[in-house]
Amino acid sequence: MNIRVDLEKTGITEEDIMEYQDKIFDISRDLLTRANLQNDFVGWLKLPTKHDKKEFEEIKKAAEQIRSNSEVFIVIGIGGSYLGARAVIDSLTNNFYNLQKESLRKGPKILYVGNNLSESYINDLIDLVLDKEVSINVISKSGTTTEPAIAFRIFRTLLEEKYGIEKAKKRIFVTTDKEKGALKQLADKQGYKTFVIPDNIGGRYSALTPVGLLPIAVAGINIDELMEGARFAEDKYLDDSVKYNACYRYAIARNILYNDGKTIEVLANYEPKLHYITEWWKQLFGESEGKGQKGIFPVGMDFTTDLHSLGQYMQEGRRVLLETVLEVKESNTDITIKPDEDNIDNLNFLEGKTISFVNKMALEGTIKAHVTGGVPNIKISLERLDSRTIGHLIYFFEKACAVSGNLLMVNPFNQPGVEEYKKNMFELLGKPEEIKKPEKDGKPKSAGRPRKAEKAKETKEPKRSKKETKTKEPKRSKKETKAKEPKETKKVKEPKKKKETPKAKRLKE
Ligand code: PA5
Repeated sequence: MNIRVDLEKTGITEEDIMEYQDKIFDISRDLLTRANLQNDFVGWLKLPTKHDKKEFEEIKKAAEQIRSNSEVFIVIGIGGSYLGARAVIDSLTNNFYNLQKESLRKGPKILYVGNNLSESYINDLIDLVLDKEVSINVISKSGTTTEPAIAFRIFRTLLEEKYGIEKAKKRIFVTTDKEKGALKQLADKQGYKTFVIPDNIGGRYSALTPVGLLPIAVAGINIDELMEGARFAEDKYLDDSVKYNACYRYAIARNILYNDGKTIEVLANYEPKLHYITEWWKQLFGESEGKGQKGIFPVGMDFTTDLHSLGQYMQEGRRVLLETVLEVKESNTDITIKPDEDNIDNLNFLEGKTISFVNKMALEGTIKAHVTGGVPNIKISLERLDSRTIGHLIYFFEKACAVSGNLLMVNPFNQPGVEEYKKNMFELLGKPEEIKKPEKDGKPKSAGRPRKAEKAKETKEPKRSKKETKTKEPKRSKKETKAKEPKETKKVKEPKKKKETPKAKRLKE
């Protein structure tokens, strides 16, 4: 389940890395202290060893029940409340999991909603599941996020109409705060089974909490092995040495390259199964680092697919890119290319080679081309795609992100900027004014006094190392000094109402 980080093609020397030793020592001590005090958003750091074992067993039990009585399992959540689950499920199940025969799948079909506001998406999902046996898991830490809240209203009604209120209750699973928020209130009132998102773990660091674990277990993935991989990582990345700690080396390399003007990081995978790992990584790093007008902009690419769309830019566009390649060393399958008598496509030279081998050559060839073109390359190699390795990878990225954010001198655990679009949207929708309550982790706070953990974590800036005085801003080109403001739109127009299916209509009434 090992993970290797190769910095050979970054142009970074061992001396460059060693310069970070003191800073890293301070950051890692600080994170550990905060995790031990349990009063900050660093609970994920010790989660693999310190999670609630009783709840872990409850998750397995609930998953078993869902698997036995459901054809479809709907995960309702957005951002950190669904990406981790989807990342793990997609990377560890068949590429066509939902299309597989029931007998081949290890769990029900898994579908997602509440991660957009598309009426047609919701409408189509309603049509798809109406005649199926359905269970749902609504996941929201705040319990007030608009997208999942709207979807939950609709799918809760769907279940109540289909099964009757009492039976529907047995098919609704709620993952939320242990005591506050609208969702918790509703779950208590209705008697839904609830799972807890720990106070000291923020959304994007919650993949290994019930947020991710319930859907992952429903998909038939061994969550014991997943946690075992994360536990291995927890122990491995305690090592303070920047010479040996691969997680720190990744964070340091990003920081060095950022300071050298590489303001965009492309995480490239060569396995479609890793698409959602990339999506999860994008959110983790983007939301953690993009603040105070700083941070690397994280971009995901699926290769070789995107080599035929963005490959040109990567090779010859603006040189602000750094590339991190996620390599999977072993393949679980083996398809060998056969000779063809006519050889019209001229591919007979590949006779006897596996497709994995061709993919590997594409990976190596692309790295070489991009490095030559001025894109430094970090390679992260996974031995294979299995639950232990993915558990390890999740922890690896979470810790690297926390350290990287600290190196950048931003708070990697809040996301104040996310509120801005919501404010405008609610204004346009005419949401009634609320009595102002203090902000919690960038989100509106529910009624009641802030608990100890919340008080302590409020926008705490990461500690600076003794040596540090200033974070270097990335180099900018002369032309780049002023960004043009986009033109304002004149008027927000109500879209024309489209015809609804009778079923969908009924559910919205
Ligand atoms: O990382 C985060 O905190 C966010 O992406 C949240 O997960 C996302 O906004 C959903 O929030 P909630 O779980 O409160 O519905």
